[in-house]
Amino acid sequence: MFTATPPRKIENNIPDDLFSAIALLKEELNAVILAHYYQEGDIQDIADYIGDSLGLSQQAANTSADVILFAGVHFMAETAKILNPDKLVLLPDLEAGCSLADSCPPDAFAQFKAQHPDHIVISYINCTAEIKALSDIICTSSNAVSIVNQIPPEQKIIFAPDKNLGRYVSEQTGRDLVLWDGSCIVHETFSEKRIVELKVQNPDAQILAHPECETPVLRHADYIGSTTALLKYSQGSECDKFIIATEPGIIHQMQKQAPHKVFIPAPSTSNCNCNECPYMRLNTLEKVYLALKNKTPEIIIPEPTRSKALKPIQRMLEMSK
Ligand code: 13P
Ligand code: SF4
Repeated sequence: MFTATPPRKIENNIPDDLFSAIALLKEELNAVILAHYYQEGDIQDIADYIGDSLGLSQQAANTSADVILFAGVHFMAETAKILNPDKLVLLPDLEAGCSLADSCPPDAFAQFKAQHPDHIVISYINCTAEIKALSDIICTSSNAVSIVNQIPPEQKIIFAPDKNLGRYVSEQTGRDLVLWDGSCIVHETFSEKRIVELKVQNPDAQILAHPECETPVLRHADYIGSTTALLKYSQGSECDKFIIATEPGIIHQMQKQAPHKVFIPAPSTSNCNCNECPYMRLNTLEKVYLALKNKTPEIIIPEPTRSKALKPIQRMLEMSK
C-alpha cells in the first residue's frame, strides 16, 4: 500500500524575543551563524562569526557545527555547501542573489573561456557554483592581488566576473588580465562628484573604498581593501573621520569597534539607498529564526558541479595560508 509522507509543518509564528529564540535553536541544532558585514546590524549581533568573503569561507571550511546558517548571499552559502556537502546549509532568503554573480552566465562564460585556450581562469568568489566549476582558482577581494602574484609571469590569465576588481588587480600586479565584463550594482552606484564634494566639506576625513568600485572613485581613496581590511584600517588609523565607499552595513562594526569615530557613507549618484545591497538586505532576523526553526531554505548543489567547484576553492584556501 502506498503511504505518502505527511507534509512537513512550516512554522510561521515569530516569537517576541527573537534573540533568545535564535540562541535556543542554535543550541538545539548545533548550528553556527556566519554573517557578512553587509547584513543588517541585528543579524551581525547574533552571528558567531562576522567577516569578509575570505574569512567566511575559512570559517565554513573549519566548522564542526552540523548546520550552517549563512547570513549573506547565495554564492556565499553555496561556497559553504561546496565545502560541506554533508552539512545542512541554510540561507534565510533564497532570493538573496548577487548582480555580479548574475552578470556571468555559465554558457556564455564557457564560450569565452574556449576563446582563450592558453589562459587559466581566476574567478572572484562572487560567482555561481557553475562558474567556480569552470575556474582554476577562486579569489576574494582580500587575496586577489596575492593570488595573481603567485602565478608564473608567463601564464596568461582570465579574471572573472568583476571587471572593476580585475582592473584594480591588473594595476597592482602589473599583469595583463583578460577581463569578463561583469560588475556590482552597489559599488558602481557611488558618485565621484558627490564623494569629492563630501571630501571638500570634510577635509579631515579619509576615503576608504572597496576594490569593486570604479576607477574614478578608487583614485580618490586613501585606502582600498576588502571589508575586513577597511574595518581594520579604520580601527588602526589615527584619523577619526572616514567616508566609506562600500555597502554601509560595514559601518555597524566600524562604529561598534570605534564609537568615538565618525563614519559617513559615500553618496550614490542619485538620492536613493542604492549603496545598500538589495540582495544582502533581503535577510532579516525573522527569516533567520524561521530558517533555523523550519530547517529551510536549504542550499543544494548537484554533483559533479559541487566537486568540480571544490578544487578551485581549495586552491584558494591553500594559497591564502
Ligand atoms: P568582501 O567580502 O571580500 O569584502 O567583498 C564584498 C562583497 O561584495 C561581498 O559581496
Ligand atoms: Fe553582489 Fe554587490 Fe551585493 Fe556584493 S554588494 S552581494 S557584489 S550585488
